Amino acid sequence: MDQVQIPEVVLNSGHKMPAIGFGTAGSPAPVAEQLTPIFIEAIAAGYRHIDTAALYGTEEIVGQAVAEALGRGLIKSRDELFITTKLWCTDADHDLVLPALNQSLRKLGMEYVDLYLIHWPVRIKKDDTNSNKMMHFDIQGTWEAMEDCCRMGLAKSIGVSNYSCAKLSKLLENATIPPAINQVEMNVAWQQQKLMEFAKRNEYTYVHSLHWEHMDPIGVLMQWWRIRSLKTSLQLEIRLPFRFLNKITSIALRWVQDQGATPIVRSFDRERMRKNLQIFDWELTDEEVGKMQQIPQQRASMVKDFISPDGQYKSLEELWDGEI
Ligand SMILES: NC(=O)c1ccc[n+]([C@@H]2O[C@H](COP(=O)([O-])OP(=O)(O)OC[C@H]3O[C@@H](n4cnc5c(N)ncnc54)[C@H](OP(=O)(O)O)[C@@H]3O)[C@@H](O)[C@H]2O)c1
Repeated sequence: MDQVQIPEVVLNSGHKMPAIGFGTAGSPAPVAEQLTPIFIEAIAAGYRHIDTAALYGTEEIVGQAVAEALGRGLIKSRDELFITTKLWCTDADHDLVLPALNQSLRKLGMEYVDLYLIHWPVRIKKDDTNSNKMMHFDIQGTWEAMEDCCRMGLAKSIGVSNYSCAKLSKLLENATIPPAINQVEMNVAWQQQKLMEFAKRNEYTYVHSLHWEHMDPIGVLMQWWRIRSLKTSLQLEIRLPFRFLNKITSIALRWVQDQGATPIVRSFDRERMRKNLQIFDWELTDEEVGKMQQIPQQRASMVKDFISPDGQYKSLEELWDGEI
């Protein structure tokens, strides 16, 4: 199969990012011996944007796959790839950011990442198993350290993940480098209209808009569709055209793309990872777009683990600033 030409978007840092990313989180994750060939396969299929995180345990495997892809001539240089990794909550504090990024770089075997993200606006005490594990997250101090990493050239672009509009506004009060990305859950069943409007408004504040990277583009739609097809008598039942059913995952990804966002999609299956790249040479019909607008909205990942009576976020309402 020929390699797909993947368009690129320009971030507010001036760097280019391929408009679809390959997710590397899996639960439970296959072992390294199984994953390395899968990641090499993804590069061979045409993925040039790879999303990992300290939390996923896949940084070393991404590094191995990139080294092997170079060895096999699938890519000519590491610079052809856009590699994202993320700061985990145990390191989410001003003085811990640089050591954490250095450790990620060691695992990746790279001198820089293309994008470094704060995984959550949350700080967790290191190696603590008792109930007082939540600590105060310093939103502005942590960002200052991210900016330092960017200035040092260790991260070409920096950003955040799972931030609400209120938390982004707080960060932007003192930021000298605005975040290039907010990686959030976004799919047809959680369309993130408030965040998308925030992004458009900030286009006027900054030279380029903040860009939204989105995860879970497929999972929730599949789940939604299964529920709907089982409960056909539900009031909200929507009749879907045949093409929709036939191309449901591609349509889910194309919809994200059409919102001005970048889908991060994970398939460890050879055929499906290739199929997921086939979203750039066709368009959604008006009927399909209309169907998407009727889908009931619900955030899938609330992440109750970050709620604690003694912690910074005492309720889901506080964690998400009402965006639930
Ligand atoms: N920043 C954050 O907090 C955060 C949170 C969650 C995820 N992420 C990132 O976003 C990535 C994507 O999220 P995700 O892995 O949760 O969900 P996803 O990519 O939306 O869905 C993955 C699931 O969909 C299946 N799938 C993929 N393509 C398919 C297709 N064409 N047809 C049918 N099934 C298909 C996969 O199975 P097969 O592998 O068997 O194909 C897998 O079970 C993650 O890997 C991670 O990099 C970030």
